[in-house]
Amino acid sequence: MALMDIYPTALRLLGRPVLVVGGGKVAARRAKGLLDAGALVTVVAPDAVDAVRQLADSGLLRWEPREYRTQDLETPWFVQTATGVAVVDAKVSAEAEERRIWCVNASDHENSAAWTPAVASVADVKIAVNAGADPRRAMAVRDAVAAALDEGSLPLRHHRRASTKGTVALVGGGPGDPGLMTVHARRLLAEADVVVADRLGPRSVLDDLPEGVRVIEVGKTPGHHPVPQDEINRILVREALAGNRVVRLKGGDPYVLGRGGEELAFCREHDVDVQVVSGVTSAISVPAAAGIPVTHRGLATGFSVVTGHDELGNLPARPDHTVILLMGVKSLARSMATLAASGLPADTPVAIVERGYAADQRVTISTAEGIASRAAEVGVENPAVIVVGDVVRLSPYAPEHLRVTPNLSSTVPVSSPGSYLAPGTPR
Ligand SMILES: C[S@@+](CC[C@H](N)C(=O)[O-])C[C@H]1O[C@@H](n2cnc3c(N)ncnc32)[C@H](O)[C@@H]1O
Repeated sequence: MALMDIYPTALRLLGRPVLVVGGGKVAARRAKGLLDAGALVTVVAPDAVDAVRQLADSGLLRWEPREYRTQDLETPWFVQTATGVAVVDAKVSAEAEERRIWCVNASDHENSAAWTPAVASVADVKIAVNAGADPRRAMAVRDAVAAALDEGSLPLRHHRRASTKGTVALVGGGPGDPGLMTVHARRLLAEADVVVADRLGPRSVLDDLPEGVRVIEVGKTPGHHPVPQDEINRILVREALAGNRVVRLKGGDPYVLGRGGEELAFCREHDVDVQVVSGVTSAISVPAAAGIPVTHRGLATGFSVVTGHDELGNLPARPDHTVILLMGVKSLARSMATLAASGLPADTPVAIVERGYAADQRVTISTAEGIASRAAEVGVENPAVIVVGDVVRLSPYAPEHLRVTPNLSSTVPVSSPGSYLAPGTPR
């Protein structure tokens, strides 16, 4: 039988009786697949592997511990025979054929009336692959397609509008480099009808969205919110209620100074199905792009992430506790004064990383005492992450007198000190 002879179709077996003859591993696998499709499965086999016994014990299928009989074909719509004994499989298969029941014969692919493809599910997409008479080849193709769907590199967008409400996904997009998005984020983006986008985050992925996907820009800069948060909340709910799959693409992580919790609560209040997808926060990744680990054995064992307003006075003001300031450029001088008043030594190193991961990323390093005037001198601007503490000494951007070399027992790869840096970082 040539592959061209087949007619691919999808059986809807929900609530329909099916028969599996055989109790070995193959039979167990097929029985499981049939159960997943909602079929009423009967297994006929004198003996069965644990997987079949367990399914029978839990009442998910019926196992008849005996030999096959012709009467077993009275009720099923579909038969799988996998006894491991070719003559038995051939008999089941022939008798099914006489009764016009589709049968997959596991021991005789060539003469089998039906074939089981290699199957995978990604979201609500089911992939089924037949590849000639080569099941391993079919599995390899299936895996490749599933992986591509999973990471959003194949078009997953729905073209039939859901008759019900749409959904909202609050997706953390990371600090801007698309390579730092999660696979789940990519997939949701590939499925989106509407993307509600921040100013920060992986903006370049917006250019690759399929035609017809609507992008609603709601980007804010510190102190300047052209679309206020209340309005963003309303847009999310409005678009979802109109039946759209909405991705709220946020910079960094939705739950790190990102108002994700408020957006989630608003969607729930309006009975909109909402999920949150964690992202790589700029609080950790942007310092990393300048060669600064937020903790490092011997230098800092903990860190705090704040916005540079009132919370600073309550933090440990010590060089061995890293303080990370987001949205902190404007209040930099005030923040440094607050930390100094809490006891932070004036010579504690401070780094400002502007536009992390962008081609024009810039790192400015000085001391707690000197950073505000240095920032003014060079014209530091948002977006920027400010890092305060001894970990800044590890940055290859640190001036000689502030820098330390990671000690040999540390986990930083000393032979390639810049291996975790953004491209273009000095070494
Ligand atoms: C409203 S907060 C959102 C933080 C986000 N939820 C996160 O986890 O990264 C925005 C601030 O994050 C920082 N930021 C985000 N992306 C950045 C980047 N690529 N480079 C520098 N700072 C960045 C800046 O401090 C910016 O003002």
